Amino acid sequence: MIYQGNAISMVRSDDDIATLTFDLQGESVNTLSSAVVKELGEAVQALSAEHGLNGLIIASGKEAFIVGADITEFHQLFDKGQEYLVEMNLKVHEIFNAIEDLPFPTVTAINGLALGGGCEVLLTTDFRVMSEKAKIGLPETKLGIIPGWGGCVRLPRLIGADNAIEWIAGGTENRADAALKVGAVDAVVPEDDLLAAAADILHRANAGELDIEARRSEKKSALKLNAIEQMMVFETAKGYVAGKAGPHYPAPIEAIKVIQKGAGEARERAQHIEASTFARMALTDVAFNLVGLFMNDQLVKKKGSGYEKQSQPVKQTAVLGAGIMGGGIAYQSASKGTPILMKDIKDDAIELGLKEARKLFAKQVDRNKLSVEQMATRLSNIRPTLSYGDFGNVDLVVEAVVENPKVKDAVLTEVEDKVSDSTILTSNTSTISINRLAKNLKRPENFCGMHFFNPVHRMPLVEVIRGEKTSDAAVAATVAYARAMGKTPIVVNDCPGFLVNRVLFPYFGGFSFLMEQGADFKRVDKVMEKFGWPMGPAYLLDVVGLDTAVHANEVMAEGFPDRMARETKTAIQVMFDNERLGQKNAKGFYAYEEDKKGKPVKVSDEQAHSLVSSVVQEAKEFSDDDIIARMMVPLCLETVRCLEDGIVDSAAEADMALIYGIGFPPFRGGALRYIDAMGVAEFVAQADALAEELGALYAPTPKLREMARDHSRFYPANA
Ligand SMILES: NC(=O)c1ccc[n+]([C@@H]2O[C@H](COP(=O)([O-])OP(=O)(O)OC[C@H]3O[C@@H](n4cnc5c(N)ncnc54)[C@H](O)[C@@H]3O)[C@@H](O)[C@H]2O)c1
Repeated sequence: MIYQGNAISMVRSDDDIATLTFDLQGESVNTLSSAVVKELGEAVQALSAEHGLNGLIIASGKEAFIVGADITEFHQLFDKGQEYLVEMNLKVHEIFNAIEDLPFPTVTAINGLALGGGCEVLLTTDFRVMSEKAKIGLPETKLGIIPGWGGCVRLPRLIGADNAIEWIAGGTENRADAALKVGAVDAVVPEDDLLAAAADILHRANAGELDIEARRSEKKSALKLNAIEQMMVFETAKGYVAGKAGPHYPAPIEAIKVIQKGAGEARERAQHIEASTFARMALTDVAFNLVGLFMNDQLVKKKGSGYEKQSQPVKQTAVLGAGIMGGGIAYQSASKGTPILMKDIKDDAIELGLKEARKLFAKQVDRNKLSVEQMATRLSNIRPTLSYGDFGNVDLVVEAVVENPKVKDAVLTEVEDKVSDSTILTSNTSTISINRLAKNLKRPENFCGMHFFNPVHRMPLVEVIRGEKTSDAAVAATVAYARAMGKTPIVVNDCPGFLVNRVLFPYFGGFSFLMEQGADFKRVDKVMEKFGWPMGPAYLLDVVGLDTAVHANEVMAEGFPDRMARETKTAIQVMFDNERLGQKNAKGFYAYEEDKKGKPVKVSDEQAHSLVSSVVQEAKEFSDDDIIARMMVPLCLETVRCLEDGIVDSAAEADMALIYGIGFPPFRGGALRYIDAMGVAEFVAQADALAEELGALYAPTPKLREMARDHSRFYPANA
């Protein structure tokens, strides 16, 4: 034994090969926390004290190789400031460089996922062998930072600047065949042969068959690109990446600049450049929010997996209604491997549902993600039916019939008689109270909401709505099913709009006020898109459907009349009254034309503008910041209320639901993180000023005022 720590052990074999194994005790995956990096330093020191070694193999004792640095430490580390971060990274570079400079050949045996810092470790060795199933990549830019432990320096030298830019700016996880093709690894072998293949490489290097010196010199010296090549690679990439990432995500461009600046430099100088940009990026709000988002996502997933462990197996499901949502739910379930019965009352509805599923599967075949045989197997997971024949064996039912309480009541009570006593019933209703729907059921404990978003195959969120009588078992099974479908479930309590629509409609309320005060909806859309939303509110209303919006608005107004009921006619109502339903009938706030592929494209429509002008009461001038405040304050306040009312358990879940459910700009971290970033006191002051003019929709809660007074936050400042 050369070294034994909590995460790293290193042994010497009879043929004088050292094997350094990452196997973090008490954890299911290896991460590179500060403590593990310290151990790595000690292990490398122990290694240099050994004499007569013939080589080093770096390996992992876990299923994944190393999943990256320990992101849970980031906020605290980043809080220590730029100078500290530069020093921290230079110290890591010393350790990594020491591995790269060892006086014998070195190889990494990549058995599984190697990301971020884990990928940077494997770049230090002379050679890499990779299991067929493993993936490697540098996803740091997705967290608003850049690879800081040599990724921006070693990867371009190993695989060329163009490939490295693609990997780093895209933050991609790269499969073994792709890694081999660009030269990131030297061999790909079945997992069982990995260590033997690594040992063989060392043997061949020692026998002089492989030129280590040439390889090391390539990795440690300047990139071999002349001025014209540099221009071509870097300037073209910057233009392309800037367009793709957008102005709110600066990290990919900064990573390219670091690669470019370091291109003409030898290793240490290039590493200094990397360290300095890393530290600068780590201190940005974007990095703070994206790291926070990662942690929130972990929390949400952990909670989901906790529920899943308590659940009975969900092996066979059924969906009632083969419409837009029912068809989507059937496709998603079948696609992820849970057989599903799809029941409707109309033959043609079933045919339509199946056609939609077939179309989605065919797209996957076209993209080579699925073979024709796989498509056939998955499609056979959907069993269309007009009867309740096989419902006795169903573990969970999703009701997705028309949004009409009477129809839903009838369908739910009917299906309850056809299923077993333990079958879980769920409803995909977007507006009807789960407690209300439970009233006529014999087993209300087996019932809850399962709210999918449209289009089901794309939208990651499923709201699982717990009614007053819903049992833990029903919630657990519904969460488990949502996860089996590849979705992110978030459990909330019943209230009008549940969590996501309850928060979204006050945002539309803010939009209605702006329309009454003469704001141009096209400008409002532009401002909110610049703020980071995937689409502005008028466009979003067109996508949701003005009929759906009017209906949901009524439900919200009934539930929260003080702040959501309006006496005057809103622009949304006027659109609906004039049969402008949005994308579904090609006219709403915009008109819609079809492009070559049949996709709707929005165009300006004079009639829409003149209809909106009919609701103007008193035209005002607004700055972009005014528009943002008038739109964002009601949304944020309603999120605060949902948290205070216990509709959602935590700030993390509330923020993730908004990001996954309605496309809240991820780099802003969510509504509650947005308030934190502004400062609660500042936010309350902004809301108060607007409440004076616009009323209760903008009024802060007493508890939020207390938070402002106490200088408290929704999230700790740096943890
Ligand atoms: N469309 C959306 O964007 C969206 C989003 C989230 C939730 N939802 C909710 O999902 C549900 C379905 O919405 P949709 O847009 O898919 O509606 P839809 O009109 O496209 O489909 C409803 C389907 O239910 C069928 N149906 C009616 N009565 C039935 C019965 N007794 N048994 C079996 N099938 C019956 C109809 O034939 C139709 O095929 C609604 O509750 C809606 O509020 C819709």
